[in-house]
Amino acid sequence: MIKIAPSILSADFAVLGEQVRAVEQAGAEFLHIDVMDGHFVPNITIGSLVVKALRPLSGLVFDVHLMIDNPDRYINDFAAAGADIITVHVEACPHLHRTMQMIKQAGKMAGVAFNPATPVNNLDYVLPLIDLVLVMTVNPGFGGQKFIPQMLPKIQQISHYLKENKPGTWLEVDGGVNTDTASDVARAGAGVLVAGSAVFGAVDPAAAVRALREAARG
Ligand code: DX5
Ligand code: ZN
Repeated sequence: MIKIAPSILSADFAVLGEQVRAVEQAGAEFLHIDVMDGHFVPNITIGSLVVKALRPLSGLVFDVHLMIDNPDRYINDFAAAGADIITVHVEACPHLHRTMQMIKQAGKMAGVAFNPATPVNNLDYVLPLIDLVLVMTVNPGFGGQKFIPQMLPKIQQISHYLKENKPGTWLEVDGGVNTDTASDVARAGAGVLVAGSAVFGAVDPAAAVRALREAARG
């Protein structure tokens, strides 16, 4: 079954708690939390304090996407704040194996993210430590960008690889996912769909979560 992960990047931060409750009641499984540092990506968003503030309000799986340089410095902060999954970018991790070990030692699920132009050729060596692979289908930094269709074969390739080598690993797709693109993404093998603007840019975010799930079935 497809899991829906609304990204709070596009939420109304003035009423963030209410927006999180709305998508949870609509049946979303994950809450995708985009952390940006103004270095690895051009934008600056939120830190572990926001994760900590939301934690008592929600039973969703907190899916923290770190788009930051040197994520090792912040893994324990996000773990303590209540993250369930911590995902780092391969491009930001010269010692990826050590970084994944740190996430696991903090008792959290570990994810690894790939930018659109990054080839996926070093999963073998970290596979035992991986719970989730995140395929970026836009260049990270902003919500509301257009899905890059050339990423569909990449999703397929990773989906086959994971099924053969570590079934049960989540394959998450992030960027430009909406009711037009969701079925292609799901058919390519994604199990977790991140959606920011398609959910929180909608008049009714709860209805948007249900529409996405329906579209993914298509
Ligand atoms: C982009 C972020 C995404 C973003 C997706 O850098 O990683 O999670 O919120 O936004 P949409 O769904 O609007 O493309
Ligand atoms: Zn993200």
